[in-house]
Amino acid sequence: MSNKRIAVYPGSFDPIHNGHLDIVERCLPIFDELVVGVLGNEAKRPVFSVAERVEMIREEVAGLSGCKVESFSGLLVDFMEEIGARTIIRGLRAISDFEYEFQMALMNRRLNPDIETVFFAPREEYSYLSSRLVKEVYFLGGNLEGLVPGRVLARLAEVKDERKVGEAE
Ligand code: PNS
Repeated sequence: MSNKRIAVYPGSFDPIHNGHLDIVERCLPIFDELVVGVLGNEAKRPVFSVAERVEMIREEVAGLSGCKVESFSGLLVDFMEEIGARTIIRGLRAISDFEYEFQMALMNRRLNPDIETVFFAPREEYSYLSSRLVKEVYFLGGNLEGLVPGRVLARLAEVKDERKVGEAE
């Protein structure tokens, strides 16, 4: 196995927002390679397909050396084994995140004791941001300037037009 320090930043990223990108930039200097791992779980009924999410993230991290974007399904620890990664990166926004994150970290450690989870605090202005809120605010007509990359806003607009998301059913 190589000695490269490979970390995985896993998530749904439906869609990626500036809080996620802030975490990516914070951990890149610490690892040789960072793989943003996009969970392909259609059971969560994402707005964007896994291929669309991967493409959107690739566009945003294109200028960042050492950062890759891949999709995965099944157990995170199995995906990490496949790519030789030993560290899970998660953003920790508020106390409310803690319980879920702690459960996942300990379960992942039980599944593979060689894997550690490392938490990063985002910039304060993103500390309340979530993909769920991004979608809700966008489709209800709210302003997301400064919270989501322009290209992601454009994709949300396409989805709104195509699927008429947000209109009464
Ligand atoms: O952005 P999210 O939805 O909070 O990310 C959750 C994610 C993708 C990190 C988590 O659901 C996950 O790792 N899923 C893969 C399946 C798995 O390994 N489950 C056991 C986790 S303890």
